[in-house]
Parts: sequence; C-alpha cells; structure tokens
Amino acid sequence: MTATPSIELDHLTKKFGDFTAVDDVSFEIHPGEIFGFLGPNGAGKSTTIRSLLDLIRPTSGTCRVLGLDSRQDAVEIHRRIGFLPADLALWNNLTGEQTLKYLANLRGGVDWSVVRELTDRLDADLSKKVGEYSSGNRQKLGIIQAFMHQPEVLILDEPITGLDPLVQLEFHTLLKETADAGRTVFLSSHTISEVERVADKVAFIRRGHLIAVEKMSELQDKALRRITLEFSQPVPATVFHGVEGVHEATAEGATVTAQYEGSMAPLLAVATAHDVLSVASASVDLDEIFLEFYRDEVVAAGDATDLDNADLDNTNGAA
Ligand SMILES: Nc1ncnc2c1ncn2[C@@H]1O[C@H](COP(=O)(O)OP(=O)(O)OP(=O)(O)O)[C@@H](O)[C@H]1O
Ligand SMILES: [Mg+2]
Repeated sequence: MTATPSIELDHLTKKFGDFTAVDDVSFEIHPGEIFGFLGPNGAGKSTTIRSLLDLIRPTSGTCRVLGLDSRQDAVEIHRRIGFLPADLALWNNLTGEQTLKYLANLRGGVDWSVVRELTDRLDADLSKKVGEYSSGNRQKLGIIQAFMHQPEVLILDEPITGLDPLVQLEFHTLLKETADAGRTVFLSSHTISEVERVADKVAFIRRGHLIAVEKMSELQDKALRRITLEFSQPVPATVFHGVEGVHEATAEGATVTAQYEGSMAPLLAVATAHDVLSVASASVDLDEIFLEFYRDEVVAAGDATDLDNADLDNTNGAA
C-alpha cells in the first residue's frame, strides 16, 4: 500500500522511572482499517495511545498521525482526529447536549444532524446533567464527541466499556461504516471477541511488548481445532506427540483429546492405526489463540509457570 499510513509508531518506548510501560513498539495502520489493540490490564495500551497523542512524552521513538509528527503537530492532529480516552473527564453540571455544544464550538462547529443521528443510533440521552448519567450513557456521550466531526482517524480506548450488548452491536456497525468510508479506527480492547467482530488487523501487547500484529483473516485461518477420539481400548497420548499439526494431546482411559492446526490427516493416520471408534472435532475459539500468544511469550521468557498467574482479562464479560 502506498498511501500515507493513518498511524505510524516507530520504535516507541515509554518509561516511568525505571519501569518500561511500552517497549520498542512499531506498527502502521492504514486508511480504511479497523485495528484492534489487544492486551490485558496494564499491558501498555493506554500509554501507547497517550504517547501517540502527545498527552505524555515518549522516552524514545516517534509517532505519526496522518503523516504528522505527534509532538510537533499535536494541535493539527487533535483537530483532525476523534479521541475517546479511557478516563473521559466531563463537566458534571452540564447536560449531555450542553457538553456536546461546548465541544463542537471548540472545534469551530459541527453538523448537528450528525450528532442527532449518533444520539439516535446509540440510544443516548442528552437531556440529563452528566453528573446524573449512568456509566453507559456517559460512555455514549464520549463516543458521540469522538465521532461528531466525522474525523479521518478515530482513536478509541476501550470504547465498549459499560455499553449493553444491543448498543455494542450498533456501535460496531458504526465502526464498520466508518472504515468502509475510508476512515481509520484504532480500537483498544481486552476482549478478543470484540476485536474478532470488527477488526481487520489485530496487535497483541503484553507487558509493554508487542507480541504480534496479525491480519484477522490469517489469525482465523490459524485457529486451532480440538478433536476427541474414542478408541476400543486405552491409548497413551504419547502416540500423538510429535505428529504433524498436533499441539497438545491428553488421554483419559480410551478417550484422547488433542488440539491440531491445518490438516487432520496425519492425526487420523495415527488414530486409525489404533482402532479408533469415533472422531469429534470442534473449532477452538480465538480466546485460546489469544492465550497461545501469551503462552509463547511466557515460554520464550523462560517462565512457563507464569501463565497460570498471568493477569489476563480474557473474559467476554462485556459482550
Ligand atoms: N503515569 C504513570 N506513572 C507510572 N506508571 C504508569 C503511569 N501510567 C501507566 N503506568 C504503568 O504502565 C503500565 C501500562 O499501563 P497502561 O495504562 O498503559 O495499561 P493498559 O494496557 O491501558 O491497561 P488497562 O487494560 O488496565 O487499561 C502499567 O503497569 C501502569 O501501572
Ligand atoms: Mg488502559
């Protein structure tokens, strides 16, 4: 792709004292993409986003948004993007509508029909004072202010927090329409299910390290499958160890459960050599792939026991 990337991170590092919150992170996001930025609590997602928007200063490395330098051209960048921070601060004494009018004026005015449409679609209530809002309605207001000037780039830090499932669905439709119109969405999230629903690309970050950047379609192709084999008599799991494509195999009596990727043929060849009675296969969802990335990282760090204690927020709780 030759177009200027909408967002570019080039060896971004952010330290707080001796602690490295973001460690040498580089990636690009292109126009029309929805880019999911996924990681557990404390992974460095918000720190990356704040550095990208010059809300905090990187220790080293550079960021560009719409081809502009995030430090030198911060004002221009803020004018052209929409941003939903994780910790949105609003004025409790203003109503939702007054808040949006104020923010719209700061931007030199916005097309109010866009605000009305967003309000309708997200089923937001603009009439109450913000201090009296439910957390979901507060989040809706945050989303509306990010989208209301129809920016070229949207940077959204955990946007679905507090939204009910129907509103999440509508919001995800909105994201897809935004990308279809050639605009760019950078979306941080804890939940693979959200990212799977909308994103074209996904980056995994953990403890400040970028573990992988993958196209969603390729990630889905890599999905592991789980197979359950029933034999006429007990078979040791070890006969499946080392078989092409098999990741894990465990035996309990005459039942063997294994995970595999790619073709089932090598696994079946071994199974049929042992009088297999039945075969059942199911797709393992992306949650498990997500964990696989972390497992690889932990093993690479020589700390295989750490996975059990990892601070993963890998639930589908909000969905
Ligand atoms: N101002 C700060 N001073 C010191 N440490 C900080 C500061 N801001 C963030 N950190 C640390 O940097 C790490 C990354 O934090 P960050 O907020 O970027 O994580 P996150 O991925 O956004 O997590 P969450 O999913 O909980 O929002 C954490 O260990 C956090 O404690
Ligand atoms: Mg955060």
